[in-house]
Parts: sequence; structure tokens; C-alpha cells
Amino acid sequence: MQFKEATKNDAAALIEYFKLVGGESDNLLFGPEGMGLTTEQMEEMLFSLENAKKSTLFIGSVDSVIACVGSVRTNTGRAHMSHQGEIALSVQKKYWGQGWGKALLKELIQFGKASDLKALHLGVKADNPSAIRLYEKMGFTAYGNHPNFFKIEGKYFHKILMYLELEDSKTRMGEG
Ligand SMILES: CC(C)(COP(=O)(O)OP(=O)(O)OC[C@H]1O[C@@H](n2cnc3c(N)ncnc32)[C@H](O)[C@@H]1OP(=O)(O)O)[C@@H](O)C(=O)NCCC(=O)NCCS
Repeated sequence: MQFKEATKNDAAALIEYFKLVGGESDNLLFGPEGMGLTTEQMEEMLFSLENAKKSTLFIGSVDSVIACVGSVRTNTGRAHMSHQGEIALSVQKKYWGQGWGKALLKELIQFGKASDLKALHLGVKADNPSAIRLYEKMGFTAYGNHPNFFKIEGKYFHKILMYLELEDSKTRMGEG
């Protein structure tokens, strides 16, 4: 497994990747139409991520083809929430069940720690047991439910909110 941080040169390949995975799963925020960004907009997004201190987009590749993608997004422009990053990830279907999701999530957690983030959070569709199991295995805890967050082909689905503290037990948040 080869992981790297994306650059704007990855824009075209990422647009195709998101269309592919969007068509393979109902558990993402988009379908086969992908992210709905032009190449130029994707380049801009990647350029800003590349230059952001506490945000990133990781690509995992096999033979130079994108197999999985994960991101950490931190709103450093908002001082009161810049200690926590939101993560998202996807794996191309033909690589499911081979440890990629776990390896990618480890990279994202490591990035969060190295960026001095105190916590990571995410939202996962309530009927996505594979992803929920993965997050629980990596230490995430469910803390809430966003009712009817997803609407897919006329059906509504809840979103489970999950959270992982990155600080060690000596300096836990809420203890000064
Ligand atoms: C969810 C997803 C990221 C998991 O990635 P993956 O590479 O298949 O997962 P891994 O092989 O690394 O498995 C890691 C853990 O996830 C859980 N898991 C993975 N597939 C599972 C399945 N079919 N059933 C139950 N648990 C599963 C297990 O706990 C597994 O750990 P284990 O192998 O030690 O039992 C991947 O299936 C995916 O991209 N799905 C579509 C998009 C998506 O759901 N993204 C998440 C949005 S929040």
C-alpha cells in the first residue's frame, strides 16, 4: 500500500475516482455523479488542502491507480473549533475487506496527532455496519444521531455522529 498526500496534479484522477466509488456504494454523500466539481475547482480544493496546516487528503494507490481516499478537514479560520478535524474516507469496491480502510484511517489519525489536533469526528450512515465497525475498532465512539440526514432515492437515513479524542489520558479535554 502506497499512501501520499494529494496535490493539484491529482485533480483529474480524483474526479474519476469519486464518480466510480459514488456509483459503487450508497454510503457516501454523493452518487455516480461524483463530487460535482470541475477540474479547475478540484485543483483549487487540492491546492488549498496541500497548503493547509491541519487539513489533508490522502490517496492510497495500487500500480498508480487510486484505490482509496481519505481526508481530514479542519476549519482553522474558526478559532473555537480549530482543535478538531472532520474525516471522511472511501475505498474502491474491488479493494474492500483487504485492510485498506483500516490502514487509511490509521494514516488520518496519525496526521491528526502530528497536526496537534485534539479530536477527530465524522458522520456515518446508520445502516453502514462495515464502516461503523471500522471506526469503533479504531477507538471512535458514537455520540449522536442526525435524523434523516441522507435522502437516497426517496428514502431517508439517519447519520450517526462519531468522535475520537487524540490527547493522551494525562491531558484530556475538559480537565483543564
Ligand atoms: C467502509 C470501508 C471504508 C471499509 O474499508 P475496507 O478497506 O473494506 O475495510 P478493512 O478491510 O480495512 O476492514 C477494517 C475493519 O472494518 C470492518 N469491516 C470491513 N468490512 C466489513 C464488513 N463487510 N462487515 C463488517 N465489518 C467490516 C471490520 O471491523 C474490519 O476489521 P477486521 O478486518 O479486523 O475485522 C469501505 O467498505 C468503503 O469504502 N465503503 C464504501 C464507502 C463508505 O462506506 N465510506 C465510509 C463513509 S463514512
